[in-house]
Amino acid sequence: MSILIENLVKKANNQYILNHLNLEIKTGKLVTLLGPSGSGKSTLLRIIAGFEEADSGNIWLTGKNTTNLKIQERQIGFVFQDYALFPHLTVFENIAFGMRIRQIDPKTIQFRVQELLQLIELENKSQYYPFQLSGGQKQRIAFVRALAIEPKILLLDEPFGALDSQVRQNLRRWLCHFLNEIQVTTILVTHDQQEAFEISDEIIIFNNGQIQQIGLAQELIDYPYTSFVQSFIAP
Ligand SMILES: Nc1ncnc2c1ncn2[C@@H]1O[C@H](COP(=O)(O)OP(=O)(O)O)[C@@H](O)[C@H]1O
Ligand SMILES: [Mg+2]
Repeated sequence: MSILIENLVKKANNQYILNHLNLEIKTGKLVTLLGPSGSGKSTLLRIIAGFEEADSGNIWLTGKNTTNLKIQERQIGFVFQDYALFPHLTVFENIAFGMRIRQIDPKTIQFRVQELLQLIELENKSQYYPFQLSGGQKQRIAFVRALAIEPKILLLDEPFGALDSQVRQNLRRWLCHFLNEIQVTTILVTHDQQEAFEISDEIIIFNNGQIQQIGLAQELIDYPYTSFVQSFIAP
């Protein structure tokens, strides 16, 4: 089991953001968290990554309890909607950043960044700065930057949200293909049903900080457990 979440609670202003959440995700799977805006999806990812703390409950990542685990020890790659590239660093240094923090030797860094740049077909842009690139190019860089540290787990928070639909589709296909090859446990957050249906092994329908149902696209359409799922999943 790659990710195990037990009874996770997060509150703000006396309201549940995450309401006694339980979830297991098997190694190498791509699961999608699909739910309306404000349902707690980003909060859950941030807590898994260690950017934020839960009020109670446990998270186990590849068998380790995260209670006292620092962000860098979690072996997690994170991609946000808005790329969040460092504007003052070149493409090369953006991808190298996590490895430099972990004091990986410069030769290995050089090699790995080149390899990743080839993979996204941006070898010739290594000395560019983010402002000199298109949205799709920046997002590809954000993906490989997250992968550069060879994470066990990849968390993608609406990573295609800021892109127009053609680029979004291309990048989605690229990601699918790519994830098939590298086998990293991935949680993708989206509010886009089409996107969820197209690329997930499993879909988790999320609302009000709770899991409504987990299943394949067709199961959710054919056998919705709750009226929320039924109305949210329009075939
Ligand atoms: N630190 C916080 N303090 C107060 N409210 C918060 C905080 N973080 C998130 N929220 C609230 O929690 C809810 C879930 O937010 P979020 O996880 O961003 O949802 P989603 O990603 O599904 O759109 C929202 O209503 C948001 O306003
Ligand atoms: Mg969000």
